[in-house]
Amino acid sequence: MTSSSKQQEATLAPPLTLSGKKVVVVGGKTGIGLGVALAAHAAGATVVVASRRIASAEERPDLAEFLQISVDIRDESAVRAAFDTIGPLDHLVVTASPDLGSWGSFMDADMNGVRSYMEGKFLGSWACARHSAPHLKPGGSITFLTGGLAVRPKAGFAAATSSFAAVEALSGSLALELAPTRVNTIRPGFIDTDMWSFLPAEHRDGLRRKVEEAFPARRAGKAEDIGHAALFLMTNPYVTGTVIEVSGGETLVPSVS
Ligand SMILES: NC(=O)c1ccc[n+]([C@@H]2O[C@H](COP(=O)([O-])OP(=O)(O)OC[C@H]3O[C@@H](n4cnc5c(N)ncnc54)[C@H](OP(=O)(O)O)[C@@H]3O)[C@@H](O)[C@H]2O)c1
Repeated sequence: MTSSSKQQEATLAPPLTLSGKKVVVVGGKTGIGLGVALAAHAAGATVVVASRRIASAEERPDLAEFLQISVDIRDESAVRAAFDTIGPLDHLVVTASPDLGSWGSFMDADMNGVRSYMEGKFLGSWACARHSAPHLKPGGSITFLTGGLAVRPKAGFAAATSSFAAVEALSGSLALELAPTRVNTIRPGFIDTDMWSFLPAEHRDGLRRKVEEAFPARRAGKAEDIGHAALFLMTNPYVTGTVIEVSGGETLVPSVS
Protein backbone atom coordinates (compact mmCIF):
# COMPACT_ATOMS: atom_id res chain seq x y z
CA MET A 1 0.00 0.00 0.00
CA THR A 2 1.39 3.44 -0.91
CA SER A 3 1.59 6.13 1.73
CA SER A 4 -1.05 8.22 -0.12
CA SER A 5 -3.61 5.34 -0.18
CA LYS A 6 -2.91 4.69 3.53
CA GLN A 7 -3.61 8.34 4.23
CA GLN A 8 -6.85 8.19 2.22
CA GLU A 9 -8.04 5.09 4.13
CA ALA A 10 -7.44 6.81 7.45
CA THR A 11 -9.51 9.88 6.54
CA LEU A 12 -12.62 8.09 5.24
CA ALA A 13 -15.58 8.36 7.63
CA PRO A 14 -19.19 7.21 7.17
CA PRO A 15 -21.24 10.12 5.83
CA LEU A 16 -23.89 11.53 8.18
CA THR A 17 -26.52 11.22 5.49
CA LEU A 18 -29.75 9.24 5.35
CA SER A 19 -30.55 10.10 1.77
CA GLY A 20 -32.77 7.40 0.23
CA LYS A 21 -33.40 5.76 3.63
CA LYS A 22 -36.69 5.19 5.44
CA VAL A 23 -36.62 5.92 9.18
CA VAL A 24 -39.47 4.99 11.52
CA VAL A 25 -39.66 6.84 14.84
CA VAL A 26 -42.16 5.32 17.25
CA GLY A 27 -43.04 8.25 19.53
CA GLY A 28 -41.79 10.69 16.87
CA LYS A 29 -44.68 13.16 17.08
CA THR A 30 -43.42 14.88 20.24
CA GLY A 31 -40.45 15.50 22.51
CA ILE A 32 -37.32 13.44 22.01
CA GLY A 33 -38.89 11.44 19.17
CA LEU A 34 -39.66 14.64 17.27
CA GLY A 35 -36.00 15.68 17.72
CA VAL A 36 -34.98 12.36 16.15
CA ALA A 37 -37.55 12.66 13.33
CA LEU A 38 -36.36 16.19 12.47
CA ALA A 39 -32.69 15.13 12.49
CA ALA A 40 -33.44 12.15 10.21
CA HIS A 41 -35.47 14.34 7.83
CA ALA A 42 -32.71 16.97 7.71
CA ALA A 43 -30.26 14.16 6.84
CA GLY A 44 -32.41 13.24 3.83
CA ALA A 45 -34.55 10.35 5.12
CA THR A 46 -38.20 9.65 4.46
CA VAL A 47 -39.60 9.69 7.99
CA VAL A 48 -42.59 7.80 9.40
CA VAL A 49 -43.74 8.82 12.89
CA ALA A 50 -45.90 6.38 14.82
CA SER A 51 -47.89 6.94 18.00
CA ARG A 52 -51.40 6.35 19.32
CA ARG A 53 -52.99 9.43 17.83
CA ILE A 54 -52.57 10.92 14.35
CA ALA A 55 -52.42 14.72 14.51
CA SER A 56 -54.34 16.75 11.92
CA ALA A 57 -52.55 19.19 9.58
CA GLU A 58 -54.32 22.12 11.31
CA GLU A 59 -53.23 20.94 14.72
CA ARG A 60 -49.62 20.15 13.81
CA PRO A 61 -48.49 21.80 10.55
CA ASP A 62 -44.88 21.07 11.64
CA LEU A 63 -45.49 17.36 10.97
CA ALA A 64 -46.35 17.92 7.30
CA GLU A 65 -43.06 16.40 6.07
CA PHE A 66 -43.67 13.12 7.91
CA LEU A 67 -45.93 10.17 7.24
CA GLN A 68 -47.98 9.42 10.36
CA ILE A 69 -49.20 6.03 11.42
CA SER A 70 -51.35 5.18 14.41
CA VAL A 71 -50.26 2.37 16.76
CA ASP A 72 -50.46 1.56 20.45
CA ILE A 73 -47.25 -0.30 21.23
CA ARG A 74 -48.92 -2.17 24.10
CA ASP A 75 -50.99 -4.04 21.49
CA GLU A 76 -48.77 -6.60 19.74
CA SER A 77 -51.13 -7.33 16.86
CA ALA A 78 -51.44 -3.58 16.17
CA VAL A 79 -47.64 -3.29 16.15
CA ARG A 80 -47.35 -6.20 13.69
CA ALA A 81 -50.02 -4.64 11.44
CA ALA A 82 -48.31 -1.23 11.58
CA PHE A 83 -44.97 -2.62 10.41
CA ASP A 84 -46.68 -4.70 7.71
CA THR A 85 -48.25 -1.44 6.48
CA ILE A 86 -44.96 0.49 6.67
CA GLY A 87 -43.10 -2.24 4.74
CA PRO A 88 -39.33 -2.17 4.16
CA LEU A 89 -37.44 0.26 6.39
CA ASP A 90 -33.81 1.14 7.11
CA HIS A 91 -33.82 2.37 10.69
CA LEU A 92 -36.16 2.10 13.67
CA VAL A 93 -35.98 4.40 16.70
CA VAL A 94 -38.37 3.74 19.59
CA THR A 95 -38.85 6.71 21.93
CA ALA A 96 -42.51 6.12 22.91
CA SER A 97 -43.15 5.80 26.57
CA PRO A 98 -46.09 5.65 28.97
CA ASP A 99 -46.74 8.85 30.93
CA LEU A 100 -44.37 9.59 33.79
CA GLY A 101 -46.04 8.75 37.06
CA SER A 102 -48.23 6.00 35.61
CA TRP A 103 -46.38 3.38 37.67
CA GLY A 104 -47.27 4.32 41.27
CA SER A 105 -44.97 3.47 44.16
CA PHE A 106 -43.39 0.13 45.06
CA MET A 107 -45.71 -0.33 48.06
CA ASP A 108 -48.91 0.32 46.09
CA ALA A 109 -51.80 -1.99 46.86
CA ASP A 110 -51.42 -3.88 43.59
CA MET A 111 -49.00 -4.13 40.67
CA ASN A 112 -51.24 -2.67 37.98
CA GLY A 113 -49.09 0.46 37.66
CA VAL A 114 -45.83 -1.41 37.15
CA ARG A 115 -47.48 -3.89 34.75
CA SER A 116 -48.83 -1.05 32.66
CA TYR A 117 -45.47 0.78 32.62
CA MET A 118 -43.47 -2.36 31.70
CA GLU A 119 -46.08 -3.17 29.06
CA GLY A 120 -45.53 0.21 27.40
CA LYS A 121 -41.82 0.82 27.86
CA PHE A 122 -40.21 -2.63 27.88
CA LEU A 123 -42.63 -4.92 26.03
CA GLY A 124 -43.60 -2.07 23.68
CA SER A 125 -39.93 -1.62 22.69
CA TRP A 126 -39.67 -5.42 22.36
CA ALA A 127 -42.75 -5.62 20.10
CA CYS A 128 -41.52 -2.81 17.84
CA ALA A 129 -38.14 -4.53 17.41
CA ARG A 130 -39.75 -7.97 16.91
CA HIS A 131 -42.22 -6.85 14.23
CA SER A 132 -39.94 -4.41 12.43
CA ALA A 133 -37.10 -6.95 12.18
CA PRO A 134 -38.55 -8.90 9.20
CA HIS A 135 -38.83 -5.61 7.29
CA LEU A 136 -35.41 -4.13 8.11
CA LYS A 137 -33.15 -3.76 5.09
CA PRO A 138 -29.48 -4.79 5.06
CA GLY A 139 -27.41 -2.14 6.85
CA GLY A 140 -30.36 -1.31 9.08
CA SER A 141 -30.45 -0.45 12.76
CA ILE A 142 -32.67 -0.31 15.82
CA THR A 143 -32.25 2.33 18.54
CA PHE A 144 -34.00 2.28 21.92
CA LEU A 145 -34.36 5.06 24.50
CA THR A 146 -33.87 4.69 28.24
CA GLY A 147 -32.74 7.20 30.88
CA GLY A 148 -30.17 7.79 33.62
CA LEU A 149 -32.32 5.83 36.09
CA ALA A 150 -31.03 2.68 34.39
CA VAL A 151 -27.72 3.17 36.20
CA ARG A 152 -28.70 5.49 39.04
CA PRO A 153 -31.96 4.42 40.66
CA LYS A 154 -34.06 6.96 42.58
CA ALA A 155 -36.48 6.07 45.35
CA GLY A 156 -40.03 6.01 43.99
CA PHE A 157 -39.00 5.19 40.41
CA ALA A 158 -38.59 1.41 40.60
CA ALA A 159 -40.78 0.69 37.57
CA ALA A 160 -38.98 3.12 35.24
CA THR A 161 -35.56 2.10 36.61
CA SER A 162 -36.28 -1.60 36.04
CA SER A 163 -37.84 -1.01 32.63
CA PHE A 164 -34.88 1.07 31.43
CA ALA A 165 -32.40 -1.56 32.66
CA ALA A 166 -34.44 -4.26 30.91
CA VAL A 167 -34.49 -2.29 27.63
CA GLU A 168 -30.70 -1.87 27.80
CA ALA A 169 -30.28 -5.62 28.36
CA LEU A 170 -32.65 -6.33 25.46
CA SER A 171 -30.61 -4.02 23.25
CA GLY A 172 -27.41 -6.03 23.85
CA SER A 173 -29.22 -9.34 23.32
CA LEU A 174 -30.70 -8.17 20.02
CA ALA A 175 -27.34 -6.86 18.80
CA LEU A 176 -26.31 -10.53 18.88
CA GLU A 177 -29.57 -12.14 17.82
CA LEU A 178 -30.42 -9.80 14.94
CA ALA A 179 -26.82 -9.28 13.71
CA PRO A 180 -25.75 -7.82 11.37
CA THR A 181 -28.65 -5.45 12.06
CA ARG A 182 -27.17 -3.03 14.58
CA VAL A 183 -28.99 -2.47 17.86
CA ASN A 184 -28.12 0.33 20.31
CA THR A 185 -29.61 2.41 23.09
CA ILE A 186 -29.49 6.11 23.89
CA ARG A 187 -29.63 6.90 27.60
CA PRO A 188 -30.70 10.55 27.91
CA GLY A 189 -30.30 12.76 30.92
CA PHE A 190 -32.78 15.56 31.68
CA ILE A 191 -34.26 16.67 28.34
CA ASP A 192 -36.60 19.64 28.49
CA THR A 193 -39.66 18.22 26.73
CA ASP A 194 -43.39 18.17 27.41
CA MET A 195 -42.86 14.90 29.28
CA TRP A 196 -42.27 17.27 32.23
CA SER A 197 -45.52 19.18 31.70
CA PHE A 198 -47.13 17.22 34.54
CA LEU A 199 -45.04 19.39 36.92
CA PRO A 200 -46.43 22.77 38.01
CA ALA A 201 -44.73 25.57 35.97
CA GLU A 202 -42.68 26.94 38.88
CA HIS A 203 -41.44 23.45 39.81
CA ARG A 204 -40.40 22.80 36.18
CA ASP A 205 -38.58 26.18 36.01
CA GLY A 206 -36.82 25.37 39.29
CA LEU A 207 -35.75 21.98 37.99
CA ARG A 208 -34.40 23.58 34.82
CA ARG A 209 -32.38 26.10 36.88
CA LYS A 210 -30.95 23.35 39.10
CA VAL A 211 -29.94 21.37 36.00
CA GLU A 212 -28.22 24.45 34.52
CA GLU A 213 -26.24 24.94 37.72
CA ALA A 214 -25.38 21.31 38.45
CA PHE A 215 -24.83 19.49 35.18
CA PRO A 216 -21.31 19.76 33.73
CA ALA A 217 -22.82 20.85 30.36
CA ARG A 218 -24.38 23.84 32.26
CA ARG A 219 -27.67 23.64 30.42
CA ALA A 220 -30.76 21.49 30.11
CA GLY A 221 -30.82 18.91 27.34
CA LYS A 222 -32.82 19.50 24.15
CA ALA A 223 -34.58 17.01 21.90
CA GLU A 224 -32.11 17.86 19.14
CA ASP A 225 -29.21 16.65 21.33
CA ILE A 226 -30.78 13.19 21.19
CA GLY A 227 -31.59 13.59 17.47
CA HIS A 228 -27.87 14.18 16.89
CA ALA A 229 -26.92 10.99 18.77
CA ALA A 230 -29.57 8.98 16.91
CA LEU A 231 -28.19 10.19 13.59
CA PHE A 232 -24.73 9.00 14.62
CA LEU A 233 -26.08 5.56 15.59
CA MET A 234 -28.04 5.20 12.36
CA THR A 235 -25.10 6.15 10.15
CA ASN A 236 -22.04 4.62 11.84
CA PRO A 237 -21.86 1.03 10.53
CA TYR A 238 -19.53 -0.22 13.29
CA VAL A 239 -21.53 0.72 16.40
CA THR A 240 -23.71 -2.03 17.82
CA GLY A 241 -24.63 -3.43 21.22
CA THR A 242 -23.79 -0.18 22.96
CA VAL A 243 -25.46 2.37 25.21
CA ILE A 244 -24.65 6.01 24.52
CA GLU A 245 -25.30 8.37 27.40
CA VAL A 246 -26.36 11.86 26.26
CA SER A 247 -26.92 13.51 29.60
CA GLY A 248 -24.86 16.68 29.93
CA GLY A 249 -22.86 14.75 32.53
CA GLU A 250 -25.91 14.17 34.77
CA THR A 251 -24.67 10.88 36.20
CA LEU A 252 -21.37 12.49 37.34
CA VAL A 253 -23.03 14.87 39.79
CA PRO A 254 -25.46 14.44 42.71
CA SER A 255 -29.04 13.79 41.72
CA VAL A 256 -31.23 16.84 40.95
CA SER A 257 -34.99 16.90 41.57
N1 LIG B 1 -37.50 13.97 28.61
C1 LIG B 1 -36.60 13.54 29.50
O1 LIG B 1 -36.06 14.29 30.34
C2 LIG B 1 -36.21 12.09 29.51
C3 LIG B 1 -35.14 11.73 30.33
C4 LIG B 1 -34.77 10.40 30.38
C5 LIG B 1 -35.44 9.49 29.62
N2 LIG B 1 -36.48 9.86 28.84
C6 LIG B 1 -37.16 8.82 28.08
O2 LIG B 1 -37.20 9.21 26.70
C7 LIG B 1 -38.40 8.75 26.09
C8 LIG B 1 -39.17 9.84 25.38
O3 LIG B 1 -39.37 10.94 26.22
P1 LIG B 1 -40.10 12.28 25.70
O4 LIG B 1 -39.63 13.37 26.58
O5 LIG B 1 -39.94 12.40 24.22
O6 LIG B 1 -41.64 11.93 26.04
P2 LIG B 1 -42.99 12.54 25.43
O7 LIG B 1 -42.76 13.92 24.87
O8 LIG B 1 -43.98 12.36 26.51
O9 LIG B 1 -43.34 11.58 24.19
C9 LIG B 1 -43.90 10.33 24.32
C10 LIG B 1 -44.42 9.91 22.93
O10 LIG B 1 -44.79 8.55 23.01
C11 LIG B 1 -46.06 8.38 22.39
N3 LIG B 1 -46.70 7.26 23.10
C12 LIG B 1 -47.00 7.19 24.41
N4 LIG B 1 -47.58 6.01 24.69
C13 LIG B 1 -47.61 5.31 23.53
C14 LIG B 1 -48.10 4.03 23.16
N5 LIG B 1 -48.65 3.19 24.07
N6 LIG B 1 -47.99 3.62 21.88
C15 LIG B 1 -47.44 4.44 20.95
N7 LIG B 1 -46.96 5.68 21.23
C16 LIG B 1 -47.05 6.10 22.51
C17 LIG B 1 -46.79 9.70 22.55
O11 LIG B 1 -47.72 9.99 21.50
P3 LIG B 1 -49.30 9.58 21.62
O12 LIG B 1 -49.79 10.24 22.86
O13 LIG B 1 -49.91 10.07 20.34
O14 LIG B 1 -49.32 8.08 21.71
C18 LIG B 1 -45.63 10.69 22.47
O15 LIG B 1 -45.42 11.06 21.12
C19 LIG B 1 -39.17 8.10 27.20
O16 LIG B 1 -38.94 6.72 27.15
C20 LIG B 1 -38.61 8.65 28.48
O17 LIG B 1 -38.78 7.76 29.51
C21 LIG B 1 -36.88 11.14 28.76
